[in-house]
Amino acid sequence: MKSVKITVIGLGFVGLTTAVGFAKKGFTTFGYEIDQSKAKLLQKSQIPFFEEGLQEGLQDVIEKKFFITNSLEDALRDSDVVFYCIGTPMNKEGFADLSFLITSLKETASLIKICKPKPTLIIKSTIPPSTSQEVFIPLLKTLGLKVNMGDSSDCFLANNPEFLREGFAYQDFLNPDRIVVGSSQELEIIKKIYAPFNAPIIFTNLNSAEFIKYLSNTTLAMQISFANEMSMIAEKIGNIDIQLSFQVLHQDKRFHGSPANITSYIYPGLGFGGYCLPKDTLALHKKSQEKGFDTKILKGIIETNERILTFYLEKISQEVSKDAKIGILGLSFKPGSDDVRDSKSKSLIDGLLERGFKNIIAYDPIANDVFKQIYALPICYTKTSKELVDACDVCIIATAWEEFTQCNFTDKKVYNLRFLKL
Ligand SMILES: NC(=O)c1ccc[n+]([C@@H]2O[C@H](COP(=O)([O-])OP(=O)(O)OC[C@H]3O[C@@H](n4cnc5c(N)ncnc54)[C@H](O)[C@@H]3O)[C@@H](O)[C@H]2O)c1
Repeated sequence: MKSVKITVIGLGFVGLTTAVGFAKKGFTTFGYEIDQSKAKLLQKSQIPFFEEGLQEGLQDVIEKKFFITNSLEDALRDSDVVFYCIGTPMNKEGFADLSFLITSLKETASLIKICKPKPTLIIKSTIPPSTSQEVFIPLLKTLGLKVNMGDSSDCFLANNPEFLREGFAYQDFLNPDRIVVGSSQELEIIKKIYAPFNAPIIFTNLNSAEFIKYLSNTTLAMQISFANEMSMIAEKIGNIDIQLSFQVLHQDKRFHGSPANITSYIYPGLGFGGYCLPKDTLALHKKSQEKGFDTKILKGIIETNERILTFYLEKISQEVSKDAKIGILGLSFKPGSDDVRDSKSKSLIDGLLERGFKNIIAYDPIANDVFKQIYALPICYTKTSKELVDACDVCIIATAWEEFTQCNFTDKKVYNLRFLKL
């Protein structure tokens, strides 16, 4: 461990936490901050913002394991890993301003030879998906560097989004739920520096890692906006105890546990069906309109729920011959139930029939009979998933039944529309 040197560029919330965190775990860490007055303050173990435990953490490691320098050269000399924790604020048009990061990458590129051979440059700043691939790698290439080219590389560029919560930054950094790394390969150095954190390390490609950070933040934003929209609707309708309503919502079993069952709702698929969610969402939207409040998020939720089905129908239509034998795996609106009311499988089959697909075979572990009874569709059914898979050219997973993970799809085209882990 002593042979690894980590450099952190930008010592704001994220950078300082990262640097102190790695130093605390025993790594020799250097920090470089362009704002001289901030750097001076930090050198005296003073922090220009409050983060529980960070001040004490800094005092423990400063000048022992963590060294702040005014010289970028000193910071980079013999460095194995360089973390970029530079701000990416919103620009006038609403895009992420990458200019500070670009300046820093250019500075690093001009000094790359003083790092250890083939250093790993890790972007921890939040950058829009595709930025590394479309902006940073081309930039480093025009500066004469071979990037992410295996053994012949001059350096590797990776993305490692940070999920810490301000106010809990230091504790969150030291106890991460998961570490996400976007990279062209599973870099050993990253495994090594994150080993003391005892968290799963998920390696993925650059775009996915960048996306995961936005997915996380927009999901949180959606939940907040959704709660706010609900409170505005309640206010308009009147005589509703908003505080109590949310407290009761939080008592639902689905909000507890590890992982909390709520995670199954925050997962992509064919959209929500069944008896409750579609009608209730629409009903509240209508009620709200009637009361003179035009919803934006509820309307968006409904539109997206319709759009996702058309999206996949168009894709299948373009990619699959109309004569193909298509197998629909799953007919109930969700696994563990035989409720087929407002089932997405029904809408999917309708859509396929409308688009000229004639050979449709369906199977559900428990909902075949009820589906057949309620919907008189010109399709066939099988008694087992194996029978269905054997009989079809193309399989579409429409309900997330665990059973389908055991199917042998060799030689079959599969549309895994519930993103089951196969
Ligand atoms: N704050 C959070 O809770 C949080 C959480 C996760 C991710 N992020 C992301 O991490 C990034 C950093 O956020 P932050 O809150 O730490 O920002 P910040 O503004 O507190 O810190 C950025 C630091 O980088 C320094 N800097 C700018 N250019 C530099 C350069 N060329 N060389 C050296 N230092 C330079 C700035 O002076 C500043 O101190 C952003 O992309 C942000 O979106 C933030």
